[in-house]
Amino acid sequence: MEKHEQLYSGKAKSVYSTDDQNLLVMHFRNDTSAFDGKKVAQLDRKGMVNNKFNAFIMEKLTAAGIPTHFVKRLSDEESLVKRLQMIPVECVVRNIAAGSLCRRLGVKEGIDLNPPTFELFLKNDALGDPMINESHVRSFGWASEEQVAAMRELTFRVNDVLKQLFLGGDMLLVDFKLEFGLTAEGELVLGDEITPDGCRLWDKNTREKLDKDRFRQDLGNVVEAYEEVGRRLGIQL
Ligand code: TMP
Ligand code: ASP
Repeated sequence: MEKHEQLYSGKAKSVYSTDDQNLLVMHFRNDTSAFDGKKVAQLDRKGMVNNKFNAFIMEKLTAAGIPTHFVKRLSDEESLVKRLQMIPVECVVRNIAAGSLCRRLGVKEGIDLNPPTFELFLKNDALGDPMINESHVRSFGWASEEQVAAMRELTFRVNDVLKQLFLGGDMLLVDFKLEFGLTAEGELVLGDEITPDGCRLWDKNTREKLDKDRFRQDLGNVVEAYEEVGRRLGIQL
């Protein structure tokens, strides 16, 4: 698939048009960012590791019947995806308290959340991705009531699949963020990526952090931890 002009460049990925107006090339760069772009770095191999990781996870989700934009991996750092009209809302499920939940509610990191929580955030770096609720999504027309219900249902289904998958590698899926969009046919599907950049993953026994918190908290060995997660899942990196 021929790559044409760059349509968009985000904090860690760039998106290119192709010969087919309904397909895009997603390029995973080595750029790493946190805190809404306030902390940035270049990490060797991260683009390749995340691209291969994302392809593996998207294929697992497709096999589990979850619709995604993913078509196929093209190269070390590139994948082909369906063009989506993105819904500017991030869906977060938490199985264990960490990150902004602890700061917001003053709860201790590591407590089990039963049932898991479901939260919505507006995708807007300038505003620091503020937390929103379903009523905001409706009133501002970001998505319909049915679309919010579908995003919620799909996010919990992804949680069920991924929790089991990571548990198989002795890892706990603490939390994760998903983004959705609409295909040219109007179907709501999972977009963006699933990588250790947008999840929290802990070793089940030691609770060692194996995700982007290593970068946020200056714990070192960021890409090495992503590679360890990949190794435990049997991903060829
Ligand atoms: P939080 O604790 O910062 O709210 O994040 C919860 C999870 O969602 C964590 O795994 C990181 C991910 N996330 C992103 O990747 N990007 C975002 O913009 C947000 C709000 C969360
Ligand atoms: N992914 C979000 C951002 O870039 C949250 C984070 O990673 O800290 O701001």
